[in-house]
Amino acid sequence: MSEHLIISGATKAERYATLLPQIEAVLEGETDDVARMANVAACLWETFRFWWVGFYRVIDDELVLGPFQGPLACMRIRRGRGVCGTAWAEERTIIVPDVEQFPGHIACSSASRSEIVVPIFKDGKVTAVLDIDSEHLATFDEVDQLWLERLCAMLP
Ligand code: SME
Repeated sequence: MSEHLIISGATKAERYATLLPQIEAVLEGETDDVARMANVAACLWETFRFWWVGFYRVIDDELVLGPFQGPLACMRIRRGRGVCGTAWAEERTIIVPDVEQFPGHIACSSASRSEIVVPIFKDGKVTAVLDIDSEHLATFDEVDQLWLERLCAMLP
């Protein structure tokens, strides 16, 4: 494995298109969910320098903080709470252009302004969510959704 990811291409879609096969290669042969999530968080952070990028795993009836890159975050989230808990309950990707406009948003960091949460499924059930926060408004759109859903289909 190379020491650093080399990501070429000017547009966001091009960067995702280059990144995904690299992540696939990184994950090859590793079966441990936490190890896989840890390197996915690192790859996303290294490529896009998101404010916070990481995973929450479904354990019993809560989301529990998993591997991430960024400032410290809340450790447990109930089903239906915040953006992460809503994405879990509704089993769909949620894009929040302005976190102040999302009722019940859980502010782990006051610097976070926009967010995307993508559920990860196994045997038709949500087993984890990928959460990405930005310090800028309206960072995420359908391009992020498309590529991050493809990425999450490779997990856990
Ligand atoms: N903002 C999230 C909580 C997780 S932190 O942003 C890392 C939410 O509302 O679910």
